[in-house]
Amino acid sequence: MADATPVLAVEGLRKSFGPNEVLKGIDLKVGAGERIAILGSSGSGKSTFLRCINFMETPSAGRIELDGAPIGTQGRDGVLTAKSGELRRLRTRVGMIFQQFNLFPHMTVLENVMEGPVTVKGMKREEARAKAQDYLKRVGLAEKADQYPQRLSGGQQQRVAIARALAMEPEILLFDEPTSSLDPELVGEVLDVILGLSQEGRTMLLVTHELGFAYHFATRVLFLHEGRIHEQGTPDEVLKNPREERTQAFLRRFSAFHF
Ligand SMILES: Nc1ncnc2c1ncn2[C@@H]1O[C@H](COP(=O)(O)OP(=O)(O)O)[C@@H](O)[C@H]1O
Ligand SMILES: [Mg+2]
Repeated sequence: MADATPVLAVEGLRKSFGPNEVLKGIDLKVGAGERIAILGSSGSGKSTFLRCINFMETPSAGRIELDGAPIGTQGRDGVLTAKSGELRRLRTRVGMIFQQFNLFPHMTVLENVMEGPVTVKGMKREEARAKAQDYLKRVGLAEKADQYPQRLSGGQQQRVAIARALAMEPEILLFDEPTSSLDPELVGEVLDVILGLSQEGRTMLLVTHELGFAYHFATRVLFLHEGRIHEQGTPDEVLKNPREERTQAFLRRFSAFHF
């Protein structure tokens, strides 16, 4: 991997909201097939980081490259702006899954999964429909194709959201706390789907508080603190033998109760 161009390279990424600097210079190179778990306290900038990678937030400074090609141009103020063509390219190559599913309520499950390929990629509806069926099957929901999202459980809705992201055939998948809004008994079915994807060698960045899952899922773990990567390493290094006091304190809060 040493010589290969990273699939994603982030350099000196900063993001401020007014006077509040949330990301304070993030550098990250992600190789093909890497699976990165991102941990950190609420407010540490995890969501903002993922949202900047796919330009749902405009980075205040820094550089983002996909396969060695920069996305966006830095203005004199440092702010990165992407042209609509660049954004389209980005949206076909980076898929994102949110805590709150964000499915279109007025569309059936199948239409939700077809939407991106048809509107962003200009795919013919018949082809998009066939692909959507395949991806729904992949997440175990082929029989729900004609339902509306609100008839589905949270776990099912999140699996539809994953199928919708997969239908764009992205190189990179970003997950922002994909199980945080689910009832505990529905978490497993979503994590199973994500683990299945990880076995296909996909490149993924996952924000999660499911530390046990992160341990099994990730090739690398990042601990974000106050807008910086405070510590990173293998799951064993960061989750079992963290070097930094902040990381240790964060992890302790998750293991306060043993029985
Ligand atoms: N759109 C926004 N406008 C203003 N402040 C924001 C916005 N999004 C996030 N923030 C602020 O940025 C900080 C980091 O938020 P976030 O990235 O959501 O953290 P995390 O996902 O780690 O909990 C918080 O202080 C939050 O209030
Ligand atoms: Mg968040």
